[in-house]
Amino acid sequence: MHQKLQNLKNEALARIISAGSAEELEDIRIQYLGKSGQLAEIAGQFKNLPPEERVETGRLFNDIKTAISSAIESSPLKVVSTASVSDFDPTLPGIKPVIGHLHPVTQAVNEIAAIFEKVGFTRVRYPEADWDWYAFGALNFPKDHPARDDWETFFVDVPPDKKFGPLVLTPHTSNGQVREMERVKTPPIRMINIAKCYRRQSDISHTPMFHQFEGLVIDEHITIANLRGTIEYFVKSFFGPNRTSRLRPYHFQFTEPSFEVDISCGICNGKGCRLCKEGWLELGGSGMVHPEVLKAGKIDPQKYSGFAFGWGVERCYMMKSGTKIDDIRLLYDNDIRFLNQF
Ligand code: PHE
Repeated sequence: MHQKLQNLKNEALARIISAGSAEELEDIRIQYLGKSGQLAEIAGQFKNLPPEERVETGRLFNDIKTAISSAIESSPLKVVSTASVSDFDPTLPGIKPVIGHLHPVTQAVNEIAAIFEKVGFTRVRYPEADWDWYAFGALNFPKDHPARDDWETFFVDVPPDKKFGPLVLTPHTSNGQVREMERVKTPPIRMINIAKCYRRQSDISHTPMFHQFEGLVIDEHITIANLRGTIEYFVKSFFGPNRTSRLRPYHFQFTEPSFEVDISCGICNGKGCRLCKEGWLELGGSGMVHPEVLKAGKIDPQKYSGFAFGWGVERCYMMKSGTKIDDIRLLYDNDIRFLNQF
């Protein structure tokens, strides 16, 4: 009986494909699927089968029946029956197409860019795979300095450049600093570089690919006061008017002095709670551009000074009041049920 069913299916499908008119298609449907059609006839013989064969044959029978009817349904000859045409009411409101939205990280990138563009920063983008020179060398990292390990860098398997060294997946957006100095040549520089970064890391607060935004301001008479003011402006614009920031001494090779920036916790407003412990959350690094870095960018450190900062986009987004995302990896799982919420 299995063989018979298979043959029947092949024959029916071949006839459906080569059918020349809607009438012919309807004849085929009646012949195979009709009340006294071929399939019905086979179903009538089921009772003669030994019980142990019935389940499997029944399954095959159903599969074949579905295959034939869906081939008929999807045939271009299939005409809409007159009943459904007359039921069609053109005055009924249509079904709205589902409209998507930008990924939450893209939304955050756009929002951050707009905040800085409003006060005269220019948004730029530099290579995601860049030479060691721009990612480290020009940023005052001595060769083989252990500080390079802090960035857990991915190296690209290509021959190193004679002048610029190995190729890396940029572990931070600071590679944009000297590139921007080379582009603009003469200050003032007001750069906001938002790009993907890569580090060997994965846990609830780290993904191997993430985004940073890097600010760089260089001009005459730029001081820590300008850095403070810019950070406060960003914190209030992005996180809300009730939040504030503080600087904590830190160390980076490419800034002197260097600071970690903290923002007041959005849950307890800086008083101290279970989430933040002492009222502050760590935002990221900043500092005054190191004279060696200015020199690498051919800018005279006697005449000009500057500040820089580099923070994680995802991290800022997660710290924004109201988002309540407790695992950064959720942003990149591409689960539409999660993404739909933002
Ligand atoms: N590049 C540093 C990091 O990835 C952050 C930083 C940027 C610090 C600019 C100081 C100045 O952590």
